[in-house]
Amino acid sequence: MLDRTLTVRVARKQRQTADVTAFELVHPWGRTLPGYEAGAHIDVYLPGGFMRPYSLALALPAAGRDNTRYVIGVKREAAGRGGSASLHERVHEGDLLAISTPRNTFPLHPQARHHLLLAGGIGLTPLLAMAQQLEREGRAFTLCVFARSRAHLAFADALAALGANVRLHFDEPAAATAGAQVQHIDIAQLLQGPQQGTHLYLCGPAGFMRAVLEAAASWPEDRVHLEYFAPPAADGAAGVDEPFTLVVAGRGIEVAVAADQSAVDALHDIGIDVPTSCAQGVCGTCVVPLAAGQGNAPDHRDHCLTATERHAKVALCCSRAQHGGRLIVELP
Ligand code: FES
Repeated sequence: MLDRTLTVRVARKQRQTADVTAFELVHPWGRTLPGYEAGAHIDVYLPGGFMRPYSLALALPAAGRDNTRYVIGVKREAAGRGGSASLHERVHEGDLLAISTPRNTFPLHPQARHHLLLAGGIGLTPLLAMAQQLEREGRAFTLCVFARSRAHLAFADALAALGANVRLHFDEPAAATAGAQVQHIDIAQLLQGPQQGTHLYLCGPAGFMRAVLEAAASWPEDRVHLEYFAPPAADGAAGVDEPFTLVVAGRGIEVAVAADQSAVDALHDIGIDVPTSCAQGVCGTCVVPLAAGQGNAPDHRDHCLTATERHAKVALCCSRAQHGGRLIVELP
């Protein structure tokens, strides 16, 4: 179940805003790289032993498997754990980096008649790729971008190229940021009723996600697609975890998962590696099918599955069996 790791060269490092830098990654010998669909991300292995997932910020110029570059947009998080600072400060043009092949846990819905994309801050990256892909395919979309000001807007040229399908909302007074696409966007008004055939996609910081989800409370959950940067803050104090038994259906495998261990760690200990990326329940990389059967009710702790999806799937990096019982999954 291991993903492939690639070595890429940093072809270009371009400052987008005061705290966002775009990194263009290419094959070291000019070969093609695996293609991807909008919404995909790669894991980047960084100096200092960090690994961080980053969304691919631009769609492929044409449909197809092969591709010559990946572009990621990285915001330097002053209060972060050091991953973004490592990229900003220690990675330079010409350097080699190890990355995973692209994975897509935030895809466009194939049947949507209209796509409403809401981006907060650097949450723009996967949604910009979606907007470009939709434009390329001639499908209907509106991309609403929320930023503090024009000076805080990353990938401004790519947004301008999308024309009237993009709406910009800046927190700073309009007079200071005048522009043809700039307008005040009232999220509550925008989302006040689910629009027929429209799917909603959102990505951004925690406060932005909370505001959008509150405004979209009346939307059917299967028409709302989201990607968090990090798990939303917990409401109360975390309890003490219990050990439980993980069963791999059809393989005769039962693993004891200790109270201070995740299911992914317990499987790793017996030689089964489940791909992970965020390890925080937000990206969906470690999601596997639940085996059908009675008494298989997980204690879901992810932030990436809908209530409907949770009947059939579970995120193994964070979720557990209820009450120290058994969690029965299928592994590809
Ligand atoms: S690794 Fe990201 S949800 Fe589990």
